[in-house]
Amino acid sequence: MRTHYCGELRKEHIGETVTLYGWVDRRRDHGGVIFLDLRDRSGVVQIVSDPQRTPNSYEQASSLRNEYVVQIIGRVTQRPEESLNARIPTGEVEIYAEQIKLLNAVNSQLPFQVSTADSDQVREDLRLKYRYLDLRRDRMARNIQVRHQIVKAMRGYLEDVEGFIEVETPILTRSTPEGARDYILPSRVNPGEWFALPQSPQLFKQLLMVSGLDRYYQIARCFRDEDLRADRQPEFTQLDMEMSFMSQEEIIELNEKLICHIFKIVKGIELHRPFPRLTYGEAMEHYGSDKPDTRFGLKLVDVSDVVKDCNFKVFREAVANYGIVKILPIPDGNDVISNVRIKPGGDLFKEANEAGAKGLAYIRVREDGEIDTIGAIKDNLSEEQKQEILRRTGAKPGHLLLFGAGDVATVNKTLDRLRQAIAKEFNLIDPEKINLLWVVEFPMFEWNATELRLEALHHPFTAPHPDDISDLKTARAQAYDLVFNGFEIGGGSLRIYQREIQEQVFEAIGLSPEEAHNKFGFLLEAFEYGTPPHGGIAYGVDRLVMLLTGEESIRDVIAFPKTQQARCLLTDAPSKVDDKQLKELQVASTYKPKS
Ligand code: AMO
Repeated sequence: MRTHYCGELRKEHIGETVTLYGWVDRRRDHGGVIFLDLRDRSGVVQIVSDPQRTPNSYEQASSLRNEYVVQIIGRVTQRPEESLNARIPTGEVEIYAEQIKLLNAVNSQLPFQVSTADSDQVREDLRLKYRYLDLRRDRMARNIQVRHQIVKAMRGYLEDVEGFIEVETPILTRSTPEGARDYILPSRVNPGEWFALPQSPQLFKQLLMVSGLDRYYQIARCFRDEDLRADRQPEFTQLDMEMSFMSQEEIIELNEKLICHIFKIVKGIELHRPFPRLTYGEAMEHYGSDKPDTRFGLKLVDVSDVVKDCNFKVFREAVANYGIVKILPIPDGNDVISNVRIKPGGDLFKEANEAGAKGLAYIRVREDGEIDTIGAIKDNLSEEQKQEILRRTGAKPGHLLLFGAGDVATVNKTLDRLRQAIAKEFNLIDPEKINLLWVVEFPMFEWNATELRLEALHHPFTAPHPDDISDLKTARAQAYDLVFNGFEIGGGSLRIYQREIQEQVFEAIGLSPEEAHNKFGFLLEAFEYGTPPHGGIAYGVDRLVMLLTGEESIRDVIAFPKTQQARCLLTDAPSKVDDKQLKELQVASTYKPKS
């Protein structure tokens, strides 16, 4: 029987005989003395075998290789002074192996070195193909364990302190609109009909409130067929919550306590409450983003009114066409950022261009205070306009001002990207900082320029602000997002619980009464039978774990993630299926591979 995990052994165990199980992390032969690092999920401990002190294990120890699985019985001993290892928690002790039993050998060449010592250089595709080996490595094993602690802290707080009940909701269901494409599955028993995998448990959790469940939560798997990024996966996990009879303030307060609890348990950090708040309008104005990273300044400045009548056509037309002209002021940018970088071909130009901007106008304030501009601005802004721009941006000698001009969304997207790139380049981000903030007062709808219709900014079940009900199209929503160092980690809202208002919102997003009835008739009907006021929120568990472990991709905190191409390299999914299966489902593929 195992007596200890490897990583637990300390000075106080000296003298004890222990039984350990694990993998050989490394084996070193020091001229007659063999050292093994034995690893299990808790860490490593040094095992020693030599012909004098441990003759029974020496031969076996000599035959071991990396990643062999063994049982070791041995005595915990103080390490000699010269071999103390302060870098590992078990570094004061070593185990003299009285018996070593080989449980399983490695029979093929390992695709990469698993050892904690030389781990980080492995290509990601290899790591994903042999994920079970990757997960043996220290960093990944730790991430998966932190993930478990975070989820445990969530469950503990919600169940034991706040009285939430976990309920599972269906995976085979109808479309639940959260703004992404659905994954759909054909039904064999109902030919011609399809299930959708849930983009979130949104409608079921609202129905649980109609049931009187009062406080629901779920660690819920969600599925969204959207473009992948470092913080997006096609299947991901939410901490999903819904509660009845609570105001927005009460929901926010409960959630701040939850987040504080998680930070305390997992990181030992006491966060201050209440968390700061920005309205959506403020966030967009100053940061060009509804998930601003407020660990650094570089706030944007709107100068539309200053340049609306100037001679520079690009600025004038931008404002005339309901767009804006905004500036990203960069202190000390004049010296560091050359014209080459801002003009076509340059890295900053490219950054802006990828966000949709056609060019980047700029003003430099030279060290002697002289204002330097490129042609178009030079000749077409009056001295007064230039001075007002300097005043408004607080520009001093050494400043570089980068302009965005055009439609509001493109300008904000461009300057948001540049702001983040500059912050990284100028090392303006303190990695120790934790900036959590709520973004509130989102608009209910945004204009979808492709489909030429309004669409819900969150989802169409979000309640409008009671003061704005007379004009739904421009109404603010009773919605709130939680932002952590520039990442949206959670979002929620109070919900509509009256049939008429829900019908008006469906109408506003262009659903005819028939379509609304076909898609959401069950919800509208439920509202007829005594629905309590309710609201909720969902957190991206993967994103939260990524941020708390300091990783840069959620792939590194998910046991078996998908690649950027939405594939599982380990199982090689998705894959073809037999014609017979397709026939049974009455489905045929129209896909024609490109020759
Ligand atoms: P929302 O769509 O904002 O809200 O999702 C909630 C949180 O889930 C995370 N998230 C993702 N994480 C990884 N990969 C993805 N593809 C992905 N998409 C979203 C984000 C996000 O903040 N039903 C509503 C919640 C509610 O109103 O209660 C919802 O799903 O961190």
